[in-house]
Amino acid sequence: MNIYLKKFIEINFETPGKALDLGSGDFSDVNYLKQKGWLCEGVDKNDGVDLEKLYISNMKPFDLVYSNYVLHFLRNKKQLISSAYENLKKRGWLFIHAFEKSDKHIKKGITKKEVQKMLRQFKFKNVSVRIFDYYDNEPKHNHWHRIIEISAQK
Ligand SMILES: C[S@@+](CC[C@H](N)C(=O)[O-])C[C@H]1O[C@@H](n2cnc3c(N)ncnc32)[C@H](O)[C@@H]1O
Repeated sequence: MNIYLKKFIEINFETPGKALDLGSGDFSDVNYLKQKGWLCEGVDKNDGVDLEKLYISNMKPFDLVYSNYVLHFLRNKKQLISSAYENLKKRGWLFIHAFEKSDKHIKKGITKKEVQKMLRQFKFKNVSVRIFDYYDNEPKHNHWHRIIEISAQK
């Protein structure tokens, strides 16, 4: 489970709700949230959902839409934000982690400026974009990453 997402949920949600994971990978975050009582849907390219296109869930609207380490892969990044926005309920939260451009261990990152420009095209409130360094101590990794964290409320 992404520890920053876990903390974000603890701060912003008193009770479990409904969450959508855009680019869920091995579903570890989805499974963690389900164990905690959340109704949770995860979608990924591996399961036939291409987030370069608008994704609208049958389960919408969601209290939380999150996406970890997917945004920087996409050519059409705005589309992922659109999918998040369209699936959120009013006052629902968006949470995103992606690699920042100056991260030395990835090919393509994104800048804070790019993110802020993109977010301005939506009517989000309480927008926060922060950058921090995180030490990845997974076997064979053992290096620092520069992470960009976005949170915003519809
Ligand atoms: C680094 S993994 C992150 C997985 C998970 N979110 C996590 O934090 O562990 C990136 C994921 O993005 C997915 N992905 C990349 N491009 C995608 C696209 N165009 N549409 C949907 N999923 C995509 C990949 O299949 C992969 O599962």
